[in-house]
Amino acid sequence: MKRKIIAGNWKMYKTMTDGLAFLDAFVPRCHREMMEKCSLILAPNFTLLASMAARCREAGIALAAQNCHPGGEGAYTGETSLAMLVDVGVSHVLVGHSERRALFGEQDNFLNQKVKAVLAAGLVPILCVGETLAQREADAAGTVVEKQLRQGLDEVVPDGRLMIAYEPVWAIGTGKTATVDDARSMHQFIRQCLRSLAVDGKGEDVPILYGGSVKPANAPGLLAEDEINGVLVGGASLNPEDFARIAESV
Ligand code: PGA
Repeated sequence: MKRKIIAGNWKMYKTMTDGLAFLDAFVPRCHREMMEKCSLILAPNFTLLASMAARCREAGIALAAQNCHPGGEGAYTGETSLAMLVDVGVSHVLVGHSERRALFGEQDNFLNQKVKAVLAAGLVPILCVGETLAQREADAAGTVVEKQLRQGLDEVVPDGRLMIAYEPVWAIGTGKTATVDDARSMHQFIRQCLRSLAVDGKGEDVPILYGGSVKPANAPGLLAEDEINGVLVGGASLNPEDFARIAESV
């Protein structure tokens, strides 16, 4: 069995003290069986990355950034380069989270630059895609997700160096999860898109995560699906016990 990916996105929550307290509570719960079945990733805020890096490395937890700038160093006030992220021990970068798209106006072509830059830096981009409620109700979920994939992965041949997170916008932070059937069928659709963009069957190697109100109660059903290679967890990843229960449900 391939290990399931359990990723936590802390968004703009937790100070450095909170982050280290989380590790104090969470790391002792990462027993061998859990670590054999799961790959754990945490995406704390930028200000926590450096202080969490050594302890995450020792515990076998990969560290992700929630965002990056695609350029090298330069006059980009408020931005963080990939060289800076590599320097503090980051291995994965979230790209195009729906909050970046909706609140900060990030467009597919800019996200494509980020995906390429993350790959060029030798890190793993986790490209987030997903439709809004209006788009789903207009029967446009597939079209929207396919466009996000094609544009986000323009000139990128998808393979095991990257991950996709399917996060229906209407399920994020709302307590509404996609049904297992909805998630499975969208994951199958994303897999088809990846196959058509990939060469030599490498589209099979791209892990596809589900995100949107994943909790200890619904994680077992989602993670039991072959098509769901892991989960991207927001709210429930802030609590060490809940996050551990999600990983234990694999
Ligand atoms: P949620 O967030 O689990 O709180 O819905 C998921 C995400 O935004 O990645």
